[in-house]
Amino acid sequence: MGRFCSPLALTLLAMALLQGCGQPRISGRIVGGGDAPRGRWPWQVSIQYNGHHFCGGSLISAQWVVTAAHCQGSHLGWPECMFIYRVILGEYQLFNPSPSRVASSVRQIIIHPNYSSQSADVALVQLTEPVRFTDEIRPICWLGSSDSSPDNDMCWVTGWGTTDSNVSLPSPKTLQEVQVQLIDFKACNTLYNIDPDPQIGRDPVKPNMICAGYAEGKKDSCQGDSGGPLACDHNGTWFLTGVVSWGDGCGKPNRPGVYIRTEAYGEWMWGHVSSSNQPSTTVSHTSWINDAGPSFSTFILSFTMLLLSR
Ligand SMILES: *[C@@H]1O[C@H](CO)[C@@H](O)[C@H](O)[C@H]1NC(C)=O
Ligand SMILES: *[C@@H]1O[C@H](CO)[C@@H](O)[C@H](O)[C@H]1NC(C)=O
Ligand SMILES: *[C@@H]1O[C@H](CO)[C@@H](O)[C@H](O)[C@H]1NC(C)=O
Repeated sequence: MGRFCSPLALTLLAMALLQGCGQPRISGRIVGGGDAPRGRWPWQVSIQYNGHHFCGGSLISAQWVVTAAHCQGSHLGWPECMFIYRVILGEYQLFNPSPSRVASSVRQIIIHPNYSSQSADVALVQLTEPVRFTDEIRPICWLGSSDSSPDNDMCWVTGWGTTDSNVSLPSPKTLQEVQVQLIDFKACNTLYNIDPDPQIGRDPVKPNMICAGYAEGKKDSCQGDSGGPLACDHNGTWFLTGVVSWGDGCGKPNRPGVYIRTEAYGEWMWGHVSSSNQPSTTVSHTSWINDAGPSFSTFILSFTMLLLSR
């Protein structure tokens, strides 16, 4: 993480902390997995297409959201049809719009240039206007630095994805949270190499990915959680450690969820986020009928034909 210790990076981190990143105003109880307390995860966004939730994301500044590259599948008309997307901020129950909800349209979507089914499943979404921070809408910290590693290896994943493969989150689709244990890519490959799925093969987890979950399964992210945050606490401040990417099923034994390790993409992210000047924070909103939304504890999409992305 040392490479983020340049004076510029540290200045930007200091600015981000002053803005209050990673510090929800509302803190909740720690539970094993289930409905998140309202406002506990104010950087969580829902990315919607024609009113339907299809991916999660994390607010990392007033105008930028990070998500998974596989969320912007070509079938969704990227990049020409940017207008069909909305980023929903400050939401809690997808079927019961919150007063804090802001629906933003999208200025641009930047897919990582090295994105393939095997790597760099990360994308940036720029909102048309900077959003105003509230108790329910706040960015997560994400700059890696030598002292921002989590206090322990327990982190949280959140989203509105399915609660099991093919089981959608019941109405009113309350944001779900689950506590998961970080598993480094080598240990994760050891698990994935147990009765390896022939479609996935051996050693599918690359060094720029990180896993989270448990060898016994049960607590995981799932389809519809893709792009959402794996958030880790460092001395009371939350950092974006990973982005929900893929898994072999959801919550299965020896198949923890696999996440893009944001630290590996920090410089690329900074390159875009810091180049767009974000003066102050105004609000962008457009009301948008919200009639949908999948959900969480565990997820999956069709990983570009090979792996099961979430
Ligand atoms: C893409 O991959 C190439 C080859 O590994 C690497 O040199 C380059 O820095 C990567 N691009 C980004 C934006 O990380
Ligand atoms: C989910 O549903 C699809 C299509 O209905 C089916 O092919 C698949 O086997 C199901 N997956 C699980 C884990 O039940
Ligand atoms: C943790 O945060 C507290 C209060 O903000 C601060 O006093 C302390 O120095 C921090 N500890 C570390 C290790 O950063």
